[in-house]
Amino acid sequence: MAGGGDGAFIGAIHRAAARLDGEVELVCGAFSADAGRSRATGAALRLAPERSYDNWRAMLGGESRLPAGERAEFIVIVTPNVLHLPIAEAALRAGFHVLSDKPATASLAEARQLAAVVHESGRRYALTHTYLGYPLVNEARERVLAGELGTIRRVIVQYPQGWLAGPLESTGQKQAAWRTDPTQAGPGGSIADIGVHAFNLAEFVTGQTVVAVCADLASVVPGRAVDDDAAVFLRFAGGARGLLIASQVATGEGNDLSIAIYGSTAALAWSHATPNTLRLMSLDGREQYLRAGTDAAGLGATARSLCRTPVGHPEGFIEAFANLYRAFAADVRAFPAGPATLKSPAGIDAALRGMRFVDGAIRSSAAGQIWVNL
Ligand SMILES: NC(=O)c1ccc[n+]([C@@H]2O[C@H](COP(=O)([O-])OP(=O)(O)OC[C@H]3O[C@@H](n4cnc5c(N)ncnc54)[C@H](O)[C@@H]3O)[C@@H](O)[C@H]2O)c1
Repeated sequence: MAGGGDGAFIGAIHRAAARLDGEVELVCGAFSADAGRSRATGAALRLAPERSYDNWRAMLGGESRLPAGERAEFIVIVTPNVLHLPIAEAALRAGFHVLSDKPATASLAEARQLAAVVHESGRRYALTHTYLGYPLVNEARERVLAGELGTIRRVIVQYPQGWLAGPLESTGQKQAAWRTDPTQAGPGGSIADIGVHAFNLAEFVTGQTVVAVCADLASVVPGRAVDDDAAVFLRFAGGARGLLIASQVATGEGNDLSIAIYGSTAALAWSHATPNTLRLMSLDGREQYLRAGTDAAGLGATARSLCRTPVGHPEGFIEAFANLYRAFAADVRAFPAGPATLKSPAGIDAALRGMRFVDGAIRSSAAGQIWVNL
């Protein structure tokens, strides 16, 4: 693991998710830019001292020197965005597979470079777009792809958060500080931090690519160097229109990503606030609610396979993440079998598309909210 030191947010979630199914074991780490802190985290996690490294370069070097079978098989990247490319590139070139948190890189140019390295190395690469791990998101996708909604006409995807409604970065809060610093996060603020999740979810559930965007990005909190509020019109390849909102100044909101897809014969809606329920709507106004669970009535095989407990026993964020780990573990185990065998829902293509979206939205807004082709 690169990143995820003491006090970090998502690293600990990754570690819990990785352990959940007993398929992945943390064997080494470079958890901080500070060698002492990195080693302290490694000790707290009871890693062998020699595999708790001073920095990520030392980790890649040290692991490369270990015999196959003992060395780490893949590297997880949970650092601020600007480090995603250098760590992924060095890891792939050294022969490791890479599981990275989003956004793929800090910029579109970097994402192109990453894609080239992934293809050259032939190694596995996947992104942890958490929401793709939820059973009912997969159920929604399967129903859309099976044509149950008819022609998709309207997609509404929203990601409201309120934690950056004030100048939190000026208090020294770590997660806010790097996310609002373009040298650490890249040029995108909310559009890159949470907009990519919403974009990725919309493409995943509809099974369609977004071909053009028209964006209105704002830095609402005075002095902030990146956007903290974004509204983006989307045009899908199949003709559907979409609206994406990614705001970190939505006062009082937690983390309520939601998506609604309206077709010519039916519609569906899913919300992260109630992740174990999928709402189905029909033309005559009838509604049906599907629930998650290994034994849930009406669920397809994919959604059921992503559940660990029967109906009525709620699963959540860590389990969704664990589903991504299980998929990636299968991809690593199947290596070097070809792309047709891949289980991870977001690979390098999704990574590149996410960064095209961030770049397109920023360009669109800067040019006066014009349509930009992706
Ligand atoms: N998938 C999700 O739902 C989700 C949620 C939150 C964050 N993220 C992503 O995860 C990444 C980390 O976000 P976070 O909120 O955990 O940030 P964080 O600031 O809480 O943690 C970042 C960690 O990286 C470490 N780090 C910094 N420089 C390093 C270096 N040179 N070498 C090794 N470690 C270094 C820091 O010490 C810290 O431990 C970001 O890219 C973010 O976009 C994804």
